[in-house]
Amino acid sequence: MVSKKLEKALNKQINAEFWSAYLYLSMSAHFANTGLPGVANWFKIQFQEEQEHALKIMNYLISKGNRVELDPLAEVTTSWKSPLTAYEDTLKHEREVTILINNLVALARSENDFATENMLQWFVNEQVEEEETAQGLIDNLKLIGDNGFGLYTIDKELGQRVFVSINASVE
Ligand code: FEO
Repeated sequence: MVSKKLEKALNKQINAEFWSAYLYLSMSAHFANTGLPGVANWFKIQFQEEQEHALKIMNYLISKGNRVELDPLAEVTTSWKSPLTAYEDTLKHEREVTILINNLVALARSENDFATENMLQWFVNEQVEEEETAQGLIDNLKLIGDNGFGLYTIDKELGQRVFVSINASVE
């Protein structure tokens, strides 16, 4: 069983992951509405991934005999000036999530809870990828600037992204 303190912190992280999902779904809806279906697709897959992150922690707590309590989600922004500003928000948000994950690892370590630390290691690696991906897209979009054909091309590319499950629901 996970300590009460860690249980509370992991429940907070479940909420943070669902909030991330909600944020990316909001971005997806915005870009679907503004004629960028590829960007919308990319964020919809991001939304699906975040839900799996939440489920991964949820399933872990259940497997340890701990309580899962789902708190309300805070509201999210609903419009962005451009894909560039959305990816800048994405990077900013993912950097904040990295800090949350690092704090959880530190807490698990301080309690000698090696199983939880091990479970969280997956998230440590995931955050490196999340930040790198957002940074890469920001770089590309800055390069494109106001070029309509460039934006058209990147939208097509982002439309190719497919969802790859980590099978969080069966772990
Ligand atoms: Fe759940 Fe985007 O990290």
